[in-house]
Amino acid sequence: MAWRRFHLPRQFRKDIMASSDILRLRINDLCKSFATVDEPLVVLNRLSLELSGGDSLAIVGPSGSGKSTLLQIIGTLDRPDSGTLIIDDTDPFSLNDKQLAKFRNSNIGFIFQDHHLLPQLNVLQNVLLPTIAFGKGTDDQVQRAHELIESVGMTDRINHLPSELSGGQKERVAIARSLVMSPSVILADEPTGNLDANTAGEMTTLLLDLQKQFGAILIAVTHSETLAASMSQQRELVGGALTGSSTGSSTGSSTTDQ
Ligand SMILES: Nc1ncnc2c1ncn2[C@@H]1O[C@H](COP(=O)(O)OP(=O)(O)OP(=O)(O)O)[C@@H](O)[C@H]1O
Ligand SMILES: [Mg+2]
Repeated sequence: MAWRRFHLPRQFRKDIMASSDILRLRINDLCKSFATVDEPLVVLNRLSLELSGGDSLAIVGPSGSGKSTLLQIIGTLDRPDSGTLIIDDTDPFSLNDKQLAKFRNSNIGFIFQDHHLLPQLNVLQNVLLPTIAFGKGTDDQVQRAHELIESVGMTDRINHLPSELSGGQKERVAIARSLVMSPSVILADEPTGNLDANTAGEMTTLLLDLQKQFGAILIAVTHSETLAASMSQQRELVGGALTGSSTGSSTGSSTTDQ
């Protein structure tokens, strides 16, 4: 096993347990179109979704069906044409730009296929990046970054630059960074798309283990059947809306240490 099972320090657990009682993500009738030279391209068409803390959702669907567009909107990086998004009782799109940036920073963790690590920053600095967006990271956040880096098995590489890391190692750093602000919602766009099958499986196990301990909501877009099957719910994005069971099979075996 390349990492140790991560246990949250008591003060973080208390915060998360208190907030997870009410943690909800609700999407109603979301619509999004893009202008083209002809008629508008309808990508999301009255899409609705409801998730609670601890849920993990795999979104699958053909290329171009709107999966990344949906994640961008849930991540508040793009706005819908109509419909509502409520995260933890907040309508982020009712906030002004500054409030929205703060909301995003403290409530949403992102993991992208190509990691988006800053090349000039080392592992610790990359993990700490979200904590310094609105000022200096607190001592607790620095301690938390160290603990997350240890939990993803990267302590011996803490001063290394991304160019000195393998794809799987970069992915681990991206997972640690996505969790450093204790987000309510973790969004992952093809997080294991660039990894070999073994590494992808390890990363999936690690991500789901941490997400469950945090009581966060995880939404992952994936083309991998293995990753999709390990999440508690699977939905397909077709024709602008999500199909499939919303109750899921709860087949995830993510907490199994390897
Ligand atoms: N900013 C944009 N302007 C115009 N069209 C866009 C824009 N972003 C996405 N699209 C279009 O919207 C559709 C959905 O794109 P999106 O990236 O969400 O698909 P996807 O399901 O993530 O696909 P993939 O599996 O290939 O990543 C595509 O037809 C794409 O060309
Ligand atoms: Mg995409």
